[in-house]
Amino acid sequence: MKKDFPLKKVYTLLESGPVILVSTACGRHNVMPMSWHTMIDFDPPLLGCVISDESLTFKNLRATKECVVNIPTREIAPGALACGNVSGAKVDKFAKFGLTPVEAAKVKAPLVKECYASLECRLHDASLAGKYNLFILKVVKAWVDTAKKPATFHHRGGSDFFIAGRTVKLRAKK
Ligand SMILES: Cc1cc2nc3c(=O)[nH]c(=O)nc-3n(C[C@H](O)[C@H](O)[C@H](O)COP(=O)(O)O)c2cc1C
Repeated sequence: MKKDFPLKKVYTLLESGPVILVSTACGRHNVMPMSWHTMIDFDPPLLGCVISDESLTFKNLRATKECVVNIPTREIAPGALACGNVSGAKVDKFAKFGLTPVEAAKVKAPLVKECYASLECRLHDASLAGKYNLFILKVVKAWVDTAKKPATFHHRGGSDFFIAGRTVKLRAKK
């Protein structure tokens, strides 16, 4: 039976996309984990990301209009999540948390080597960044290690995560 549920926890029901690592470059490279993102269009691929205006990532993205969305798997979850506890304004998170920056093809922000996929993005629309911290990004180059089975991890609020499991075929056509 369904019961009343606190409104401030509604995000834990819907926040099911993989945790991603957003890397930027503005002076020093930086990286932060985030989970409030959504696909917006297929071709070109557009994604929406809510990035706090208190983060260095927000400032870097506004200044450079570029970033890379990297998709980590469970093997590097501890280091990836640790990047969410400190701002790059204070430390070099690549060095501190054992991540390797790799030069991208189309943007100055680095790929994260340890992630199974990296999407080079240009800022497409920041018109809602002032009101909702919402950035629309256009993916301009995508890199994926197709040999890896992507056991991505997904935030369920607080310390709770789920790890993506097996793929099953249902009747969706897409
Ligand atoms: C699992 C997880 C998900 C997060 N999701 C977001 C998010 O969607 N948006 C956001 O602004 N911050 C999010 N954060 C917090 C940032 O990662 C955190 O504020 C980070 O220290 C900002 O780093 P920066 O100042 O170097 O950019 C998340 C943190 C964790 C651990």
